[in-house]
Amino acid sequence: MLNQLSEELKINPAKTRPNIGSYWITTFGCQMNKADSERMAGTLESMGYQKAEAELEADLILYNTCTIRDNAEQKVYSYLGRQAKRKHNSPHLKLVIAGCVAQQEGEALLRRIPELDLVMGPQHINRLETLLNQIDNGQQVVATDENYILEDLTTARRDSKVCAWVNVIYGCNERCTYCVVPSVRGKEQSRLPEAIHLEIERLASLGFKEITLLGQNIDAYGRDLPGIKATGRRENTLTDLLHYIHDIEGIERIRFATSHPRYFTNRLIKACAELPKVCEHFHIPFQSGDNEILKSMGRGYTIEKYKRIISQIRDLMPKASISADVIVAFPGETRSQYQSTLSVIKELGFDQVNTAAYSPRPNTPAAKWGNQISEEIKVERLRELNNLVELTAKRMNERYKNEIHEVLVEGLNPKDQTQLMGRTRTNRLTFFPVQGPKGCFYKPGDLVNVYIETVRPFSLSGTSLK
Ligand code: SAH
Ligand code: SF4
Ligand code: F3S
Repeated sequence: MLNQLSEELKINPAKTRPNIGSYWITTFGCQMNKADSERMAGTLESMGYQKAEAELEADLILYNTCTIRDNAEQKVYSYLGRQAKRKHNSPHLKLVIAGCVAQQEGEALLRRIPELDLVMGPQHINRLETLLNQIDNGQQVVATDENYILEDLTTARRDSKVCAWVNVIYGCNERCTYCVVPSVRGKEQSRLPEAIHLEIERLASLGFKEITLLGQNIDAYGRDLPGIKATGRRENTLTDLLHYIHDIEGIERIRFATSHPRYFTNRLIKACAELPKVCEHFHIPFQSGDNEILKSMGRGYTIEKYKRIISQIRDLMPKASISADVIVAFPGETRSQYQSTLSVIKELGFDQVNTAAYSPRPNTPAAKWGNQISEEIKVERLRELNNLVELTAKRMNERYKNEIHEVLVEGLNPKDQTQLMGRTRTNRLTFFPVQGPKGCFYKPGDLVNVYIETVRPFSLSGTSLK
C-alpha cells in the first residue's frame, strides 16, 4: 500500500502539497502580462493554491495590471475597489496588485487602497512565493525596486495546451515620448539563449506545438548579453536565436513580437523566409504615417524606412500578413498629419491594426507638452481610423478565399461546439467543423489543411480536406 502511494506521488507530486486556499487572477494589458500571469499561477499552484471557481470565492485575488493608457489604469481601480470592500467582511482575503500600475504607483497604492496586502512590479513576478510569505504575518509589502529578473524555476500554468509564450527579453531601453513602458518595465534584460532553449524543449515534451517569443522590443534581444558587450560579436541577436531554437523537435511553429522598425534587419527578414517553422506574420507598429510626428514620438525611423521593411518582407514572403499599432491625436498632430497615417494604411494594406487615441501618461515627456489635442478630435479621428482598419482587414482577408491554409487547432469554437478554432500561419483566426468531409476527427494540436470559404474582417471559416 505504502509503495503504491509513493509511486503515485512520484507521478503526481502535486498531491503532496496541502491545499492552502484558492486563487483568482485577472489579467489586463499585453501578452507580456499574460505570460507573467501564467507564471504566477504556476507559482501559486506549486505553493498549494488551487484555481477558484469564481472570483468571489477566492482566498487570494491577484490583479495583473496595465497602465498603457489612462482608461486601462482606471479600470484597475474600479475592479480593486470592489474587492477592497469585500475584504471588510472576509479579513482572510489576500489582495495582490501586480504589473505595471503596481510599478507606477508603488507605495501610493497602499494609501489609496489600504486593504491591499502586496504591491509588486513586473520585475518581481518570479519572487511571488517569497513575497507572499512576507505578508503572512499581516505585514503589507511593496516590491517595486529595480530587480534582476531571476529564471523562473516553477512551471507556468498555461491557458493553452498548444501555444505558449516564451519571454526572451524583459524591459525596454527606448524612450518613445508617449510611452510608460520603460518606466514600469525597467531596463532591457535578455534571457540566456540556453535557458530559452531549455524552456522550449520542455514545452515540446509537454506537447506544445507553437511558441511565441516575447519582448517589448524583441529586436533588442541579446544586446545586453555578456558576449556582445565584451566582444561586439553579433552572435546573440534575435536572428541568431531563431536559428538556435529552430530545430527543437515537436515545435511546429515559431512566432515573435513586438518588432521595432528601427532595429528590424534584412538578416532577420531573410531568416524568417528561410526557416520553415517561423510563421509569415509580422507585428510591426508604425505609430504614425508622418515623419514630423514620428520624430516627436522619438521613434528613430522614417515612414519611408518602414515602407521599405514591408516591401522587403513581401518580396521574400508574398503571403505574409502584417499587423501594426497606431496612435492618433498625438500632441500637435494636424489633420493632414493624421491623414498621412490613414494613407499608409490604405497604401500598405494591413491585416490588422491596433488603434488608440493618444493618452497622456505619468513621467512621459509628451504628457507635459502644451499642444494636446481635444477629446472631441481624438474620438472623431479614432472612429474614422477604426472604420478604415476594418474595411482594410476585410479587403485583405479576401485573398484567403478559395485558398487552402494550414491551421493549427487550438480548441473548440466557444460559440459553436461543432466547430474547431485555430490559426493560419499568418495568424488569422479560422473556424472549421470538428469532423471533416471524409470522416476525420480533429483535436487540439493537429495541423489541418483547411479550404477557406467565408471571410470576415477578423476571422475565416472553411472545411478541412480530409
Ligand atoms: N513595444 C511596442 C508597443 C508597446 S505598447 C512598440 O514599440 O511598438 C503597445 C501600444 O500601445 C503601442 O504600440 C502604442 O501604439 C500604444 N500606446 C503606448 N503608449 C500610448 C499612449 N500614451 N497613448 C496611446 N497609445 C499608446
Ligand atoms: Fe514603449 Fe517605445 Fe519601448 Fe515600445 S519601444 S515599449 S512604444 S518605449
Ligand atoms: Fe500594459 Fe504594461 Fe503591457 S503597461 S501594455 S501591461 S507592458
